[in-house]
Amino acid sequence: MYKVAILTLFPDMFPGILEHSITGRAKANGLWDLKVFDIRQFAKDRHKTADDSVYGGGAGMLMKPELVAETIKLAKQEMPDAKVIYLTPTGTPFSQKKSIEFANLEGGVILLCGHYEGIDQRVIDLYVDYEVSIGDYVLTGGEVAVFPLVDAILRNVEGVLGNSATLHEESFDNDLLEYPHYTRPVEFEGLEVPGVLKSGNHAKIAQWRLEKAIEKTKKVRPDLYKKYLENKEK
Ligand code: ADE
Repeated sequence: MYKVAILTLFPDMFPGILEHSITGRAKANGLWDLKVFDIRQFAKDRHKTADDSVYGGGAGMLMKPELVAETIKLAKQEMPDAKVIYLTPTGTPFSQKKSIEFANLEGGVILLCGHYEGIDQRVIDLYVDYEVSIGDYVLTGGEVAVFPLVDAILRNVEGVLGNSATLHEESFDNDLLEYPHYTRPVEFEGLEVPGVLKSGNHAKIAQWRLEKAIEKTKKVRPDLYKKYLENKEK
């Protein structure tokens, strides 16, 4: 069973959408497990304060380091071999490749959600294994980023998608975006299904799909297309 822990100031946000559809079914089938830890539980004052001002001045607040550290230690008691991932816009970009790497972590993952301006650098230095960003934009907190991250990881956990789907080619394999798909009817609002897809000629279909994947990637992701060309030459 793949283990996920989430460390947050907003525990009520979870499991949220992860309890639905494919990830929800996989959870009900015991393929993965979620534990949510409330960082605020360690706050000592009457108001349960979780933030403090930043040394050196400037706008915004930081999460109190001792609360974050206590919560990580508690999660580690239950998942001693788990890796700690801190979700932050200043992290390494998340990718399909990273999702496979994280899915293969035997001890599971402890996901730390930052809030306010983030967390004290010493907590990162002492406890964090990976700093990860889900894209070049700033979210209100790491919680929002947890959903796409966990969903993408779980697709690579054995049994979650079922056998046939895992063998299926998909976007980002070979640095290409996937080719277009069609279903019935043959004609829809004046547009026809490309003839080759009805031909039954599998070699021709594979050739057409590769061409379309290249066309699409070149158009919308020139950066990825460049990578595809470089790797093809190897
Ligand atoms: N927290 C705020 N913005 C984020 C981002 N882009 N990725 C991960 N965590 C974040």
